[in-house]
Amino acid sequence: MTDSQSTPSDTNPSGQRYGAGIWHFATYVDRYATDGYGDPRTIIDAIDIAGTVTDLSVVDLNWPFFGGDFSNEQVKEALDRNNLGVIGITPEMYTRTFAKGAFTNPDPGIREEAHQLITRAADVVRYFGADYVKLWPGQDGWDYPFQVDHGALWKNSLDGVGRLASENPDLKFVIEYKPREPRVHMSFDSVSRTLLGIEKIGLPNVGILLDFGHALFGGESPADSAQLAIDYGRLFGMDVNDNLRNWDDDMVAGTVHPIELFEFFYTLKKNHWEGVWQLDQFPFREDSVKAADSAIEFLKAVQRGLDKLDIPALVEAQEKHDAIGAMSLVQKALFSSY
Ligand SMILES: [Fe+2]
Ligand SMILES: [Fe+2]
Repeated sequence: MTDSQSTPSDTNPSGQRYGAGIWHFATYVDRYATDGYGDPRTIIDAIDIAGTVTDLSVVDLNWPFFGGDFSNEQVKEALDRNNLGVIGITPEMYTRTFAKGAFTNPDPGIREEAHQLITRAADVVRYFGADYVKLWPGQDGWDYPFQVDHGALWKNSLDGVGRLASENPDLKFVIEYKPREPRVHMSFDSVSRTLLGIEKIGLPNVGILLDFGHALFGGESPADSAQLAIDYGRLFGMDVNDNLRNWDDDMVAGTVHPIELFEFFYTLKKNHWEGVWQLDQFPFREDSVKAADSAIEFLKAVQRGLDKLDIPALVEAQEKHDAIGAMSLVQKALFSSY
């Protein structure tokens, strides 16, 4: 298990470990700039760039590795020279083959292909000693009314995850829910639906990776989503970023919703949840190293703010549902900590 703490240093006195999805350091295309927002990079290039972020300890790696035919050993060598560990492996179960779904594809052969792909990704998790296989079923869902049999689709989602989890009891599988995109409506769309599914699967090694931005995008309060996932014993990982709430913009953490981000981390602290604080950002037009450094600087301010927060006074304010009293404590702690 990846430790939540590393050795404290001058730049990182608390020793909290920070992570990022390796795609943070790639370049992107979208449906308009089909020529991309930068020259293509290989996963090795991206790891070498990630290595220049001041306090990054771990990365989540897409698999198969992008930009070339790289072996685990080659990737490990790049990680080692940059002092980076691996927290998770994200099998690419959302690419063209899986346009109509991975777990829920109407073609049983493609469903089996998804299963085999993720099974191979499980071995990559073992190779790197990572914490989990990250399932992001971005194409599993539907677009139009009457397109699917909802009962059958949900059953396939749960059977797909359940089969992997039961065949690999030594590993954790985390489901990262999100309301939509690329599928117009994703099956695992919210914290509550994902928890219902996980409870139905009934295995100890399936949990949630809570993406702060996906919760915002879905109209949730991320702190409440975190509390619910923790109460069910299923909060296995997290990502932070920010957005304007009506899309998964994956902007720099803390830039738009600093108070809700602070409440999210307060909730983790209150529940003694310990783990890597991970970035899932897509700096389309920004320098990716500056975007990561800036987010981590803000996360350190969040941490100092949590140390400063008058928790007994906050608890007292919350007992009365005193919004203004609570907010004045929170604003004082956070805004004086940057
Ligand atoms: Fe994410
Ligand atoms: Fe996202």
